[in-house]
Amino acid sequence: MTRKITIFDTTLRDGEQSPGASMTVEQKIEMAEAIDRLGVNRIEAGFPVSSPVQFDAVKRIGAAVKNATVVGLARCKKIDIDAVRDSLADCSNKMIHVFIATSPLHMKHKLRMSENEVLSSISEHVGYAREQGFDLIEFSPEDASRSEWGFMVKALKAAVAAGANTLNIPDTVGYAMPDEYGDQMARLKKAIPELGDTVMLSAHCHNDLGLALANSLAAVRAGADQVEVTLNGIGERAGNAALEELVMSLRVRKDIWDVETDVKSEYLYPTSKLLQNITGLVTPRNKPIFGDNVFSHESGIHQDGVLKHRETYEIMNPDHIGRNRETLVMGRHSGKHALKEKLEQYNIILHGDQMDSLYKKFIVIADKKKEVYDEDLFTLVSEVLGDLPAGWRLETFQTWTGNKVIPSATVQMKKGEGICLGTQAGDGPIDAVFKSIDQCTGTSGRLTEYVIQAVGSGKDAQGQVKLQVNFGGVLVDGKASSTDIIEASALAYINALNRREMMGENGVKPEMP
Ligand code: KIV
Ligand code: ZN
Repeated sequence: MTRKITIFDTTLRDGEQSPGASMTVEQKIEMAEAIDRLGVNRIEAGFPVSSPVQFDAVKRIGAAVKNATVVGLARCKKIDIDAVRDSLADCSNKMIHVFIATSPLHMKHKLRMSENEVLSSISEHVGYAREQGFDLIEFSPEDASRSEWGFMVKALKAAVAAGANTLNIPDTVGYAMPDEYGDQMARLKKAIPELGDTVMLSAHCHNDLGLALANSLAAVRAGADQVEVTLNGIGERAGNAALEELVMSLRVRKDIWDVETDVKSEYLYPTSKLLQNITGLVTPRNKPIFGDNVFSHESGIHQDGVLKHRETYEIMNPDHIGRNRETLVMGRHSGKHALKEKLEQYNIILHGDQMDSLYKKFIVIADKKKEVYDEDLFTLVSEVLGDLPAGWRLETFQTWTGNKVIPSATVQMKKGEGICLGTQAGDGPIDAVFKSIDQCTGTSGRLTEYVIQAVGSGKDAQGQVKLQVNFGGVLVDGKASSTDIIEASALAYINALNRREMMGENGVKPEMP
């Protein structure tokens, strides 16, 4: 009989922890709903103890997600478990994920705990999670692949005895080799009799050596019931196993796998696009499944082959991942209804005021450009979801530039009722604008990253700016787009400034596992 693999998506927890991937709560909710429609079984929504914003995000995702089980992460600490309990109090389909490191390296240098202390912490905290009313409890021995085998098995048995019903084996630093990881999974199934019966076995692989997918597949081969993945493979350092790569490997080679998932693969590409636009982390052209080059053929021999018979050089049908949709170009005469339908094609459903704000932004762009492409719409959606409730707004700006003048800028900005003005010279017009914003708002930011990309193609394409600013030691991302790249730069800088202000006085980023 075909075996079902549970897909545990951690895009919004492990994925969001990666540099440049942070999202606003609204963006996380939109992503969670889209990932839910994609058909994953479990969605890890965040680490609620780490900050009030994370807590709020987990709570609101718990309320928004309709089908998947919503998971909150906790260290072996009561305060963490309480935060998951409270954030998911109103969620009917919930799960807690409790973890503690079991490798000698982590226990000695990070936790400063002995083996016995770790074992009793597992029993105490998994038991505590049970007492807090969680029926579904996942336990992870962090850095499992560098843990001493006998001790890790003891840790896992302690977790099962205390009430865990999913055992997740994280290759936290992407150290394992496929045969080794697969063997470990198979040995665990023998060592822990509850596995395959009342307890699920789960794989969680990082990609430091580019082996996250291979290791996850080795785990499936060895009998894992669940695989933890992120969309586009985003995650700490080199990322996590990519959801799309796993799902499509199992689908394209169904002849050898004979397993299935609940993922509706036609939603994969649209959902990936939404994530790329929300985070600004654009996948490289040669990225498996989603890269721009995946269905384009450069060599003459390949082009000839594909024209004669597509399958000569393509192993996937683009329709199966939702890449071949009819592109109906929108313009200023397109109504709200057409816009809504277009978004639904891309697995995007906006609520309440969001649709109205989007339509207003759409009209502005449609007035500037004759044709509004799908890429423009994605950008607008990510702006609507990323809108910050308050903060600085750009009223007007002007720049003077040319090969015979010193570049300078003037900006006028508003915050609440207050208006300010800044005028500065710079190395170029963008630098002058940033300095003018600093002068106007009384801040001092140092640009640490600046990327500009065209949204779609054509001379009238919008420019999307993604940047990172160091405000007194705190690194903050900002993103914006406009048909004018200087305006896009100014808005992205102001976006970072407003985010910095929202982070509060100390601006310390929450501690992450
Ligand atoms: O990679 C890891 O070890 C983790 C744990 C929190 C499960 O993400
Ligand atoms: Zn991880």
